[in-house]
Amino acid sequence: MNWQDKLIVEVDKGLRTLFAKAKSVRPVPGADQPEADLSPAERQHAAALMRINHVGEICAQALYQGQAITSHNPTLRAALEQAAHEETEHLAWTEQRIEELDGRKSLFNPLWYAGALGLGLIAGKCGDKWNLGFLAETERQVEGHLNRHLEQLPATDLRSQGIVEQMKTDEIRHAQTATNLGGAPLPTPVKRLMQGAAKVMTKTAYYV
Ligand SMILES: [Fe+2]
Ligand SMILES: [Fe+2]
Repeated sequence: MNWQDKLIVEVDKGLRTLFAKAKSVRPVPGADQPEADLSPAERQHAAALMRINHVGEICAQALYQGQAITSHNPTLRAALEQAAHEETEHLAWTEQRIEELDGRKSLFNPLWYAGALGLGLIAGKCGDKWNLGFLAETERQVEGHLNRHLEQLPATDLRSQGIVEQMKTDEIRHAQTATNLGGAPLPTPVKRLMQGAAKVMTKTAYYV
């Protein structure tokens, strides 16, 4: 493929992430649970939390895409693509749950996407050990967010909880894969910076 073809493929990926319905091969976790009888406030809260998770998955798509573009290691690219595939399923699950809760996706998704793509491109340029280290740290921070969401979701909302539980299991595995492939622990200031950026994103996405 020449660079023009590659560019078209990547732009197509981005547009699909943002505007097409994501598909899942695995059945949606928690889908066998009955719909909870939630109050309007609980419903809104659950939908807002699932919107945050959806934004996280939009960012995951962009990060993985960026890292795969700038990384030149074929083994690593294959591992990134496998994980990215699971992130697409997460995208599908959270999207479906937002709809069930009568919520809506974040209006800033194109912005989140662009920001995360930039970070992914930079990480990929930094070389395998840092690229993978960044990935592992991202996944670990996401795991932390998902744990907090499991505490914050209405106790009766088993359908949302089922999705978040399975996502957590997958993210833990993604972090482990990245570490096994040689990801280096990131310097503390970088971790703090990432936490700060995530905070801005989650606080905003709760409302918009
Ligand atoms: Fe994910
Ligand atoms: Fe992940």
